[in-house]
Amino acid sequence: MNNATKRREFLGHAGRLAAMAAPAVLGKAQSRKLNVGIIGTGWWAGVDMKAAWAVGGVEATALCDVDTAMSDAFVAECEKGQGSKPKVYKDYRELIQHPGLDFVLLTAPPQWHALPFIAACEKGLPVYCEKPLAYDIREGQAMMAAQKKAGNVVQIGFQRRQSDAFHDAAAYLRSGRAGKIVQAEATIHYKAGTPDPTPQSPPVTLDWDTWCGPAPLRPYSPAIGHRAWRLERTTGHGHLVDWGIHLVDATRMMTGIGTPKRVQATGGIYHYKGKITTPDTLVANFEFDEFPLVWRHRLWGSQEIDPAYNNGVFFYCENETVFVTDSRWEIHPSARGAQKQVMPAKMKGNEMSEAHVKDFLDCVRAGKQPSCQIADGWESTATVQLGMIAYHTAQAIKFDAASVTIPGNKEAQAMLKREYRKPWQHPWKG
Ligand SMILES: NC(=O)c1ccc[n+]([C@@H]2O[C@H](COP(=O)([O-])OP(=O)(O)OC[C@H]3O[C@@H](n4cnc5c(N)ncnc54)[C@H](O)[C@@H]3O)[C@@H](O)[C@H]2O)c1
Repeated sequence: MNNATKRREFLGHAGRLAAMAAPAVLGKAQSRKLNVGIIGTGWWAGVDMKAAWAVGGVEATALCDVDTAMSDAFVAECEKGQGSKPKVYKDYRELIQHPGLDFVLLTAPPQWHALPFIAACEKGLPVYCEKPLAYDIREGQAMMAAQKKAGNVVQIGFQRRQSDAFHDAAAYLRSGRAGKIVQAEATIHYKAGTPDPTPQSPPVTLDWDTWCGPAPLRPYSPAIGHRAWRLERTTGHGHLVDWGIHLVDATRMMTGIGTPKRVQATGGIYHYKGKITTPDTLVANFEFDEFPLVWRHRLWGSQEIDPAYNNGVFFYCENETVFVTDSRWEIHPSARGAQKQVMPAKMKGNEMSEAHVKDFLDCVRAGKQPSCQIADGWESTATVQLGMIAYHTAQAIKFDAASVTIPGNKEAQAMLKREYRKPWQHPWKG
């Protein structure tokens, strides 16, 4: 994408941000009940459905999971949340054929985003797809092509796009008072839980082969099963891709930047050797045309000197530093003795998710595209995936956004697309 296009997009984006500055008012009055089919009924399916039930006018009429213990538990959640039981499937291809669906909630782990997403597009169904968009960059391109062909409504699960703190900080940065952004830095440190990595039989309720799906069939262990897949290379692909992506996306939304042109990353598994397969310590430098964005994480619990800054984005500007996180945003003037200003967020707890889900539901009813479209999801996902490619190759990589290539680096270029395990076939045919 050239600078002029980016600039136009940013101006369009700024207008949209301004329009969204007052977060959507949540309300129960919904004109038409929407039937949702859920793919993957774990932790976050519950969070998204609680948000949908809070907004109102939504009923899960079908769901599928490859673990019957998970689907049984979710049926019980549905009885509590909506007073009715959905029909249960084990295969997403059958779920998508369920009569009367208005949209699909895709909350399987990332190794299982591309194929169900594309199947839903081919059926013409709107999709609320959780982040990251895909496991690899080429899958994401195939998903964008499928959505473009179908023209279906798609929202990607970056709920911080609804946060008043992120929008207010963005408006302040645009006002120019802090000066030009010279460098940004995003960070999330936390103490990762590391379940048992010993290979063992999967729970009898879990179809482990299908859970791995297109990813390599690794021996089951709780360290790569439900929820823990985040820090496994072949599924979640680590903390930057899993959680860091939220702050990378928020930074992109706030500033209108696209994808990086050069990426370097260094780190390793220094503390959790033998327990996880992605870095517990990472520093990545993403050079965008506009400014560099640094990502840092530590997963063993060592915090910032002030833990209030463990999770958030710093914008180091010519005159001031602006910090933003879910609960507040802050201005730190550089003048000696000047006091910081702290602006608490108005949105609390799951209100961001509720507003994001409401945005999607309104758009499904109106047949419009919501605030976080698939191209946004792809650019944020591609950015963190490039970070991991730079980490794995231990080289500075250049990214050509126009051709979606990593010129002059065959090893890195090959990582744009993962090998699919048969019988599953990679959807990118380019
Ligand atoms: N927006 C956010 O803040 C946020 C937070 C957490 C998770 N997420 C996203 O939500 C998604 C789910 O995460 P989670 O924490 O709920 O994971 P989880 O492990 O708790 O649940 C995933 C479920 O999907 C099921 N599954 C796996 N393969 C399947 C298939 N082929 N068909 C049907 N079901 C399948 C698993 O058996 C499991 O029950 C991920 O994409 C994750 O990144 C988003």
